Amino acid sequence: MMGAALGAAATTALPGAVAAAPRIPIGAACNHYVLGTDQAYRAALARHVDVIVPEGAMKWDYIRPKPDAFDFEPAAPTAAFARLNGLQLRGHTLVWCTPKPGWLNALGSEAETAREMERHIPRVMGHYRGQVRSWDVVNEPIAEKPTSDRDLRQGVWLRHLGDRYIDRAFRIAADVDPAGERVLNEYGVEATRPQDKIKRQGFLRLIRELKDRGVPLTAIGLQGHLHGDLVIDTDGVSRFCQEVARMGLDVLVTELDVIDDKLPGDIAERDRLVARRAEQFLGAVFAGARPKLVCTWGISDRYTWVPTWFKRADGQKNRSLPLDHDMNVKPFWHVLQRFCRGA
Ligand code: G3I
Repeated sequence: MMGAALGAAATTALPGAVAAAPRIPIGAACNHYVLGTDQAYRAALARHVDVIVPEGAMKWDYIRPKPDAFDFEPAAPTAAFARLNGLQLRGHTLVWCTPKPGWLNALGSEAETAREMERHIPRVMGHYRGQVRSWDVVNEPIAEKPTSDRDLRQGVWLRHLGDRYIDRAFRIAADVDPAGERVLNEYGVEATRPQDKIKRQGFLRLIRELKDRGVPLTAIGLQGHLHGDLVIDTDGVSRFCQEVARMGLDVLVTELDVIDDKLPGDIAERDRLVARRAEQFLGAVFAGARPKLVCTWGISDRYTWVPTWFKRADGQKNRSLPLDHDMNVKPFWHVLQRFCRGA
């Protein structure tokens, strides 16, 4: 029963929910399709966050629809909005085993693939020089459902460059901006289920190996796409963050939301459970290392990726983010204030 699983957490003070500590930047992914037309959405972003990150507009399928072109138009309104409102802008993502664009995944040789990486990263980072200092350099390097702690995610980069594609991406990014923040970003490492545990072990192994090879990453991104029905492995997450910090790396929470498809339909109960799950996760992260950023993957339920894959059987809209469809704050928003604003 969902409520029971959270009951204990509801009564005990969670580690890490510190008060009166210096503020931690709060961020949100930004949907560039509606940024120019939805004034309430713009106002909510300007009011509630310090950092925005394009949800899609800086990805290969937007910047590189064709091999011989770079298109920075899709992300331009988001970059302008950040400047206009004094918000930091994060970059997501320079290298990812995503199926799009097709031409990239069709590359047939090590030479072509290496050339594309060496062309893309400097050009994109250079375009945002002076505005974007923090990049998800490599996104989701671990296999989606690893069978061992050595399984990396298949894709054009691994296929043609081997597992050193990750080293290569970070070294190129470090050459472009030596003082920048270079993040290795991953999801699905937060819960107690076995697949999360294997993935978390594999992620930590990879991080250790990269550090041992002198690869210039500076931070680890825990995406935090939590499932409302899955218990957080609080000890596992805390130990992971402690280990990352011991390696001299920062921790960022980069894409926090709570997938509520399996939570009760009642709005008040669901909002409470969503907030509890976020609180448990953040409590575990903070108990291991103080994150440099807590970013949610969207700010309002009006625009969220969640129903793409996790529509609710009862037909109700998902309520995965800090603000509801009408931009009103929810319990999840108060959790962010407690952890990041010492409220
Ligand atoms: O813009 C087109 C539209 O013209 C077309 O009609 C429609 C139907 O195909 O697709 C629209 O593009 C979609 C885009 O989201 C905008 O909605 C793409 O197909 C769809 O693949 C894309 O999904 C995004 C996904 O990453 C893949 O890039 C999600 O919005 C975005 O939330 C999601 O974000 C990822 C992070 O980058 C990495 N971590 C996981 C996270 C959630 O999956």
